[in-house]
Order: sequence, then structure tokens, then C-alpha cells
Amino acid sequence: MAKISGNILIIDDERSIRKTLNEILSYEGFKIDEAVDGEEGLKMFTDRAYDVVLCDIKMPKIDGLEFLVKAAEINPDVPVIMISGHGTIETAVDAVKKGAYDYIAKPPDLNRLLITIRNGLDKNSLSKEAKVLRKKVTGVQDMIGESDGMKKIKDTIEKVAPTDARVLITGENGAGKEMVAKWLHAKSKRADQSLIEVNCAAIPSELIESELFGHEKGSFTSAIKQRIGKFELANGGTLFLDEVGDMSLPAQAKVLRALQEGKITRVGGDKEINVDVRVIAATNKDLLKEVEEKNFRIDLYHRLNVILIHVPSLNERKSDIPLLIDKFLKDIAEEYGQAKKEIDAKAVVALQRHSWTGNIRELRNVVERLVILSGKTITESDVTSYVLI
Ligand SMILES: Nc1ncnc2c1ncn2[C@@H]1O[C@H](COP(=O)(O)OP(=O)(O)OP(=O)(O)O)[C@@H](O)[C@H]1O
Ligand SMILES: [Mg+2]
Repeated sequence: MAKISGNILIIDDERSIRKTLNEILSYEGFKIDEAVDGEEGLKMFTDRAYDVVLCDIKMPKIDGLEFLVKAAEINPDVPVIMISGHGTIETAVDAVKKGAYDYIAKPPDLNRLLITIRNGLDKNSLSKEAKVLRKKVTGVQDMIGESDGMKKIKDTIEKVAPTDARVLITGENGAGKEMVAKWLHAKSKRADQSLIEVNCAAIPSELIESELFGHEKGSFTSAIKQRIGKFELANGGTLFLDEVGDMSLPAQAKVLRALQEGKITRVGGDKEINVDVRVIAATNKDLLKEVEEKNFRIDLYHRLNVILIHVPSLNERKSDIPLLIDKFLKDIAEEYGQAKKEIDAKAVVALQRHSWTGNIRELRNVVERLVILSGKTITESDVTSYVLI
């Protein structure tokens, strides 16, 4: 059998079994750590990334089944292979039903052991690949939240995404408007075409027309080459006009025309170009107030606002905070290549009491800060010292 590599954690209270397994597997090229019981095993599992765990069933303190459950909470992707002694085969079968990858009997048979580990390693890398693939396919993070507000949004996305209806997304800073836009595109018929984003607030008003519609060479001083605008780039796909409330009035007039006629003209050009673009717009401004103050065209407002999705602020859906914290702890652990940190229930409650002005973005940053600054478990006092100041 060709040598393979990986980190393996062996948990068994019997020294002789640990020794035998360690010798066999080290010889095969694996890096081995040993733990003398479930408690020590869990600690090591939390601190280091393993590719496979071999775990005895009957052990003092934390036994094999309890380890299995707790390990799955920390990292469900690592295959756990139970080592079953005489009289624990039934428990081993039970463990497999509860999520153990497989079991081997004591004394371990060398070939069976290596095949099981090899299969376990394959499964682990497969599930990692599947995750990456899933991210690549939609390119969109999961939308977390079970509150009524979030359920309503998910429901609206399901209904509206497959249509070509224009959508206006409103909500505070960091509430998740961009995420809604990405899901609308990902679940649309246009998902295999581009989603082109334009941040209307970030582009100087004299350049926004060229950004959106492109320009012909020489149409203004800095136009040294022809340029294709975002409307054309998004042809067949979706155009996301972010911070649309910050668009200049002349640009608004042109966007209106593009939406009415499905045609654009490049700056300095005279050719009309047909574009088939679905427009999704977002803003954290109160657009009707902008209309009243004559900063935003009412006709454009009505064009954009066929379907309105208002993303509630985090303070309006605090019941989602525990789920979001859990998701961010997982994401951050994955990003840093570390085990997921635990958080006390009281710390979660303290975070729920906090008033979130920066919404989900702020919560994500705070969780990251807590992961970096706190000890093994994030406690209420960590929250008091690092967040609520
Ligand atoms: N429901 C959610 N579940 C998980 N993560 C979320 C959710 N909503 C938003 N996020 C994350 O929070 C961050 C902010 O979200 P997003 O950029 O969509 O907000 P926004 O409303 O567009 O903010 P801004 O007004 O500043 O442009 C992103 O990292 C996003 O992935
Ligand atoms: Mg945004």
C-alpha cells in the first residue's frame, strides 16, 4: 500500500492498544497524537486539526459515544472510527448510526485498519471539496436566521428570484442587503450569467455615466480608450446598483431611459445598444424622503421599486443572534484553521442585549474580536470587557 499522510488522534485508555496503533500508523507515514481518555481526547481535538480520529468506546470520564457527539459539534467533517473491544460491538454499531464513520474490532487487524482509515481520509477530503464546490456554484454565503423577518425575506427571495422583476432592497448599514441581492441572482434564471455590481456612492458623479454605460474613445479628456460599461457587461445577467440613493440626477435620467427602453448609448457615442439586464437596487437611504427633497427622481423610484424587500435591522430580530454567532464562530475557525471556540450561554445573552448599530457586519467583527481576545471559552466577562464599552 502506498504511503499516505495525515494527522491521526488515537484515544484509548489501554496503553498497549495506543502503542500498537501508534507504531503501525507511524510506520505508514501518519502523524500520531495519543490521548488517554475522552476528556483529554476532546481537548486535543479542540486544539488541533485532525484528519481522522480512532476512539475507544469504554473509557473513564468521557466515553467514546459522548466524545463522538461532542466532536461532531466541534467539527463534523472529521471521521471518527470507533475501536470496539470484546462486548462493545453492539455499541459500536450504535455509534455508527449516531455518526461514527466506521468501527474496527480489538485487537486491530492491520489491513482492515488501514483500509478504513484510507476511506475515512477520502471521505474527509471529499466533504471538504464538496463544501468548496458548493461555495463556488452559488458563490453566496448561507443566509442565517429563523426570525419571522428573515423567514419572510427568504420566502420573498424564493418567489421573486425566478422572475425578471426589479427589486429594491432597503435596510440599515450591514443589515444584509448585498447578501439578498446575491441570492436573488443565484436563484434566478440568469444565475449562470454575470452579476455585475456598481457602488453608486463610490464613483464620482462625473464618472458614473461612463461607469454604467461605457464611453467611446476621446469622448472626454481621460477617455483614451473605448470602454464597455456595466450595463453592457451585465447583458443577459443581473446589474446590482448598490447605494442607488447616491446616484447623481443626470445619471438617474440615463438609468431611467435604459430601464424604460432596454437600450443604452455609450458616452460620446451615437449607437444604441440593446441590453437585457435585470436590475436590483439597494440603498440605506429613505428614497421617498430623497424624492421629496428632489435628490431622487420619482419616476426612477417607481421603476426600481417593483418589489420592495426591506431587510430588518439586527435589533429587530435579536432572536437570530445565537444562530449568527454560531455561524461566525464556525466561519472564523475555518478561516484561521483552528477548532471552533465555545461561547457561554450568558455571553450570548449579553450580546443579544447589545444595541447593534452596524448590524450583522458589526456582530461578525465583534465575534472575531472575541475569538482573538478571549480564552478557551468566550465568557460574559469577555463580552463586558471587549464589547460593551
Ligand atoms: N442573514 C445573514 N446570515 C449570515 N451572514 C449575513 C447575513 N446577512 C448579512 N450577512 C453578512 O454580514 C455582512 C454584511 O452584509 P451585507 O454586505 O449584505 O450588508 P449591506 O446591508 O449590504 O451593508 P451596507 O449597507 O454597509 O452596504 C456580510 O459579511 C454578510 O455576509
Ligand atoms: Mg452593501
